[in-house]
Amino acid sequence: MSELTYSEAIQKAGNSITRFPLIPVRGIPLMNHIANNWDSIWDFRPDPSDLLIATYPKAGTTWTQEIVDLLFHNGDAEVCKRAPTPMRSPFLEICSPPPIPSGLDLLKKMDPPRVIKTHLPFQLVPTGFWENKCKAIYVARNAKDNLVSYYHFDCMNLTQPEPGPWEGYIHKFMKGELSWGSWYDHVKGYWMEREKRNILYLFYEDMKENPRREVERIMRYLELSLPDEVITRIVELTSFKNMKENPMANYSCIPAPVFDQTISPFMRKGEVGDWTNHFTPEQSKVFDEDYEKQMKDINIPFRTLI
Ligand code: A3P
Repeated sequence: MSELTYSEAIQKAGNSITRFPLIPVRGIPLMNHIANNWDSIWDFRPDPSDLLIATYPKAGTTWTQEIVDLLFHNGDAEVCKRAPTPMRSPFLEICSPPPIPSGLDLLKKMDPPRVIKTHLPFQLVPTGFWENKCKAIYVARNAKDNLVSYYHFDCMNLTQPEPGPWEGYIHKFMKGELSWGSWYDHVKGYWMEREKRNILYLFYEDMKENPRREVERIMRYLELSLPDEVITRIVELTSFKNMKENPMANYSCIPAPVFDQTISPFMRKGEVGDWTNHFTPEQSKVFDEDYEKQMKDINIPFRTLI
């Protein structure tokens, strides 16, 4: 089983791959395979040297994983093409029908320090990460672009619940009914814990505005010191264009019937402000009014345009 590529494992899983229903875990809707394996996920004990990259889905996880892998490997492009993103940096909670390996299966086979991805909201992250004082990077993306990206992703990820029409999808997002729950609670949960837990809280919009500044910020947080020319190379290698063309970063490793990139590519647009192409003025008004209410208790400096 361990010798199978993702692609082969997906072929073998065959008919058991479908749009999985969501089951609430402590109030958070998660894919049934995750919910059914919840105890083993919650019991996961990281090593103190492990790094957590946490995001709400579609906030820039893959981009950050690539930057971190390159930082840890001195900007060596070839080393960072050793395997596709989910093999280099496993997705903690993901569980799919066998023989597709779960995140925990992959983590068991790796020696620390590991770079571990999660979409879990703060309160569902296994407590060992905080007890062991693991470093953690959180990436947040403005709600409207995050929603647009998630909509396209749910169209092409054939294991996620059917997105349905755009108008209804906006309301599901506002009500926290999508996989991994409420965007509002997610971004707030990590924001409130960032100082106590030493979480590096980043914004997708800042990364787009000045990728070099943000790569350097991540480097300092990881207590690394790399020469300027290596930083320049990392910025270049992690541009949207280069990652879109990189088979080890563009999720071509996960073919249909899981990711159908003919519906929408994983590396779709990579922009700030694409929401203006999707929201009608009326939808934007309703969304903004609801946003004010949901975010009134906190001041997180999101930008919907740069
Ligand atoms: P879009 O759908 O808006 O294009 P995640 O990795 O969390 O699933 O996020 C995916 C989103 O990040 C997609 O957004 C994708 O295009 C974008 N993305 C991935 N790599 C990027 C990069 N190097 N630069 C900018 N955006 C990137």
